[in-house]
Amino acid sequence: MTANIAPFYAIEISRMAHALKAEGRSIIHMEFGQPSTGAPRAAIATAHEVLDSDGMGYWESTPLKARLAQYYRDSYGVEVAPERFILTCGASPALVLALTSSFAPGARVALARPGYVAYRNTLKALHMEAVEIPCGPEVRFQLTAKALAALDPEPDGVIIASPANPTGTIIAADELGAIAEVCRERNIRIVSDEIYHGLSYGEPARSMLEYAPDALIVSSFSKYFSMVGWRLGWLLVAEAHLDTARAYVGNLFLTAPSLSQHAGLVALDSRDELEGHVETYRRNRHLLLDALPELGLTTIAPPDGAFYVYADIGHLTGDSLQFCKDLLNETGVATAPGIDFDPVEGRHFIRFSFAVSRPEIEEAVRRMIPWFKAKG
Ligand SMILES: Cc1ncc(COP(=O)(O)O)c(C=O)c1O
Repeated sequence: MTANIAPFYAIEISRMAHALKAEGRSIIHMEFGQPSTGAPRAAIATAHEVLDSDGMGYWESTPLKARLAQYYRDSYGVEVAPERFILTCGASPALVLALTSSFAPGARVALARPGYVAYRNTLKALHMEAVEIPCGPEVRFQLTAKALAALDPEPDGVIIASPANPTGTIIAADELGAIAEVCRERNIRIVSDEIYHGLSYGEPARSMLEYAPDALIVSSFSKYFSMVGWRLGWLLVAEAHLDTARAYVGNLFLTAPSLSQHAGLVALDSRDELEGHVETYRRNRHLLLDALPELGLTTIAPPDGAFYVYADIGHLTGDSLQFCKDLLNETGVATAPGIDFDPVEGRHFIRFSFAVSRPEIEEAVRRMIPWFKAKG
């Protein structure tokens, strides 16, 4: 039987936002985690050159894999053989690949609730069971080693996300180590989604690879590298799992776009430009956090990374989807309803993405303050 999976409601909000824009309304898009900046300039220049000279066949870039290995050495101090990278069309197929190549239908995979909408729904689509662990503000909406150790029976796997979507919270280094330890003891396979690495506002996020060398690491060029539409990401697998993962990728997805692989290689050396984007997000984060009390929103976990604020709106509504629709219709600010990330408590939450420009966040705050005040 086909799995019955829920829609991604932020897409519905986005569709409404675009329809309003077409009618001439001024819209600020804070519904998706999508950088408003484009790919690094040097990556675009390379793509222009390559278009005229490359046949664009099925291809896996050896230089890109070698450069990614260097990125892991530089960022986390870990040595990874370049062959262990499997290039994919973004983190989404890397996640499907990690799950299908590691678990059988019926497998039980633990994850934090709230969490990225696709985890729960992809598990369902693959006929696996999402074991959702409720994680509230007291644990900054993040999985803990204690919660994993308490699961009875133990799950087959766990999905870790740090920084997380929708909250931007990071799991501290010692907690990551403790989670790895519990997983080793209880034979739980780890899938670590590290797509928001590079986007942190205090201590940089550590990779699960530093604590669990056999963890499957999912990542992408969509966020820090500002290359959403280029559809390029990777799955990093342990040597012992490589043949299986290769067999799966060859059948399910073949290769990532050649053009994007050429551009991605150059993007990895565009740190100055990319760090400029992080500075913009840092300022936006400040502005939004400063404005939240004026909006009457006080139950949040300040984000350590990514570009989201997940806020409790339980005093204003029990229907976050309708709330987001009203907010959009009445102010032109598009946001994501909490039900995307948490089917239980999400009725009381909203997610703001601050991956927009400085003037846009200022304008969004200016419009939202009176609107929230009138609601409260
Ligand atoms: C936590 C998380 N993982 C994966 C993805 C998918 O990203 P990609 O564009 O690389 O497929 C997203 C997209 O927002 C995300 O937030």
